[in-house]
Amino acid sequence: MRYKDKVAIVTGGSKGIGAGCVKVFVEEGGATVVFCSRTGQEGTALEAEVNRKGPGRAVFVRADVSRVDDIRHLIDTTVERFGRIDCLINNAGWHPPHRPIDDFSIEDFRSLLDLNLVSYFAACKFALPHLRKVKGNIINMSSLVGSMGQAGAATYVATKGAITALTKALAIDEAGHEVRVNSVSPGNIYTPLWQEAIDAAPDPARCRADGDAAQLLGRMGTIEEAGRLCLYLAAEATFTTGVDHILSGGAELGYGRKSRR
Ligand SMILES: NC(=O)c1ccc[n+]([C@@H]2O[C@H](COP(=O)([O-])OP(=O)(O)OC[C@H]3O[C@@H](n4cnc5c(N)ncnc54)[C@H](O)[C@@H]3O)[C@@H](O)[C@H]2O)c1
Repeated sequence: MRYKDKVAIVTGGSKGIGAGCVKVFVEEGGATVVFCSRTGQEGTALEAEVNRKGPGRAVFVRADVSRVDDIRHLIDTTVERFGRIDCLINNAGWHPPHRPIDDFSIEDFRSLLDLNLVSYFAACKFALPHLRKVKGNIINMSSLVGSMGQAGAATYVATKGAITALTKALAIDEAGHEVRVNSVSPGNIYTPLWQEAIDAAPDPARCRADGDAAQLLGRMGTIEEAGRLCLYLAAEATFTTGVDHILSGGAELGYGRKSRR
């Protein structure tokens, strides 16, 4: 019950890392969590599942974060129903299939910026007046590749590097209001998004094994591990702001075979 009587918003909470955050905030935090996704069925199923267990509660609101009006509606609905926002977790995002820059159009890049980056900016902007009242905090889901780079992912990596940078700039501006702003940079967390990549690979079993072997710990992370880091940042890490928290099982440590020659 580490976040009892607090209200959190999770974007993209119907599956994957966002769902891990919803579960952990409700089950271990005792919080009220309002979460969104673009489509309804998975969201209402998760809402029912976590509410059966409690002790907190979850409320699903349908919202497409590519639409600024939907984001505004998500924030307004939360405040109308529960009167406050203590934590905003910006998480909804997408990783397009890997390809060289020649095969991404300008329009591909612009629409990914809207989904992965402008949505975070808009949610921060609309939630901050409420977060300031309760000295709340923001957690932006970035990615390890935002600082490391990744092959065939120029557009995605650009959006994630920008999220980490936005987090630090906002942390400076909001410190005067005692609002903390942090990012989390996952390496490989096993989610439906990762499964999409496995299914699209020429050798799916090999792709999964390579995914596991990328970590020193020899496996991908779980959505619950991601949720627990976020609950720690929201509930306990009260002297931490502007920090990018790597959640990677050691993926970035040491040298590896990197030359393609
Ligand atoms: N899984 C990983 O290994 C990994 C690694 C680094 C960063 N991330 C980041 O973590 C976040 C979550 O990734 P995931 O692997 O859980 O993805 P996922 O595809 O499994 O889940 C994404 C969630 O976002 C929602 N969503 C997608 N588009 C949306 C939209 N337009 N409006 C509202 N909701 C939308 C989906 O419904 C779903 O609930 C993303 O920002 C991703 O870039 C993931």
